[in-house]
Amino acid sequence: MTQKRQLKFGALIHGVGGHISGWRHPEIEPDASVNLSFYIAQALKAEAGKFDLVFIADGLYINEKSIPHFLNRFEPLTILSALAAVTERIGLVGTVSTSYSEPFTVARQFASLDHISQGRAGWNVVTSPLEGSALNFSKTVEQHPDHATRYRNASEYLEVAKGLWDSWEDDAFVRDKASGIFFDPKKLHTLNHQGEFFSVQGPLNVGRSKQGQPVIFQAGSSDAGKDLAASSADAIFTGHPTLEDAQHFYQDVKSRAQARGRHPDELLVLPGIGPIIGSTDEEAERKYEEIANLVSIEQALNYLGRYYDHHDFSQYSLDDAFPDLGDLGKNSFRSTTDRIKKTAEDKKWTLRQVALQEATPRPLFIGAVEKVANRVQEWFENRGADGFIISSNVPKGLDDFVDHVIPILQQRGLYRTEYDADTLRGHLGLSFPENRYVKTKETITQ
Ligand SMILES: Cc1cc2nc3c(=O)[nH]c(=O)nc-3n(C[C@H](O)[C@H](O)[C@H](O)COP(=O)(O)O)c2cc1C
Repeated sequence: MTQKRQLKFGALIHGVGGHISGWRHPEIEPDASVNLSFYIAQALKAEAGKFDLVFIADGLYINEKSIPHFLNRFEPLTILSALAAVTERIGLVGTVSTSYSEPFTVARQFASLDHISQGRAGWNVVTSPLEGSALNFSKTVEQHPDHATRYRNASEYLEVAKGLWDSWEDDAFVRDKASGIFFDPKKLHTLNHQGEFFSVQGPLNVGRSKQGQPVIFQAGSSDAGKDLAASSADAIFTGHPTLEDAQHFYQDVKSRAQARGRHPDELLVLPGIGPIIGSTDEEAERKYEEIANLVSIEQALNYLGRYYDHHDFSQYSLDDAFPDLGDLGKNSFRSTTDRIKKTAEDKKWTLRQVALQEATPRPLFIGAVEKVANRVQEWFENRGADGFIISSNVPKGLDDFVDHVIPILQQRGLYRTEYDADTLRGHLGLSFPENRYVKTKETITQ
């Protein structure tokens, strides 16, 4: 009997929030982005709501125009290691860039987190959209790899990391004190990878975990991003303004995965949403207005500018049509910048409208509890999403979702009432990845 399809939920924990001015709200702790107690409380709340995972986003370049959360925040693997120690079941997913790190180091770090958490680690693979990142890694801006190169590099990087994670077969460590045998040499494998970007011998100095390998997320929705997810990821983190867009994207990535010989359920589609919930629609609207009213147009222009590699939008007239930017944005947050350009054109928006819409988007998932639950169900059942990454941009946003929306979804049989697995892979319904060398041996002896 096949199991009924169930929603998946992740909690994006991001301190003072992804909103430029949210930190000024009287009920938001202004130091939340570097406040361990805040992160622990959020993780425990998500775990109380039986969430599949917590999610930590990240970036490698800031300037004085970056939003407050980006200016002063925890490094993902460090905070996730702390959260591993105080949680028991929830998955722990952290963002690390493939453009500015080495596969041996990162494979080792995630494998360690996977052991520390007993099989709950996940890696959100990103390619670093901002060219300023190069300046922090002993390179010049000109050496920031272009979009296509970043994705080619990411694909090889993942191949190397996954290869390293199979260095040891699951039962390689014998640890037999009587005979003095610590490991079985036949179960140790050296990768010897030589490719376009990387030369990595291996083996990795840490074995496989309870879930075999960390779960791979991918955040990037361009064609190259979708292809990377289709070939190498277990889940894709994305974002869409309408159900129709989400459905189109869902179909697209699932067929790309199928074209690569994978079952569509092996690649989960998880859009990020920032629900605003009230006891009535009016209360939810009021919460939105409280946050939206804190933003100045100058801040909104800076926020918009970051997507276009910190382009200076103050040079244009605010109430004229959104400027023609040519190819600007193609080398940074491509899928996002393409979407913004297209929406501005379709809706004939001015620069002011676009900037305010991006900086303080009025979420589609807004309203009284039942309304938000219905919308979640609608997206899920109509294949716009397999679940959602919930971000909280208003005070107590996560609490509202866990306390009020989750119980409705549970009553409707769409979401678990108890954890039935203890690894992230188990929560997400993903199969255990057999060690590649064992698989090869089995194929040869058959
Ligand atoms: C929903 C979403 C979330 C993202 N999160 C991050 C992030 O946390 N850190 C980061 O460096 N880049 C992030 N990115 C950027 C991508 O990883 C990538 O570098 C950039 O968007 C270009 O890829 P794309 O054109 O395929 O979307 C995100 C992109 C999307 C669409």
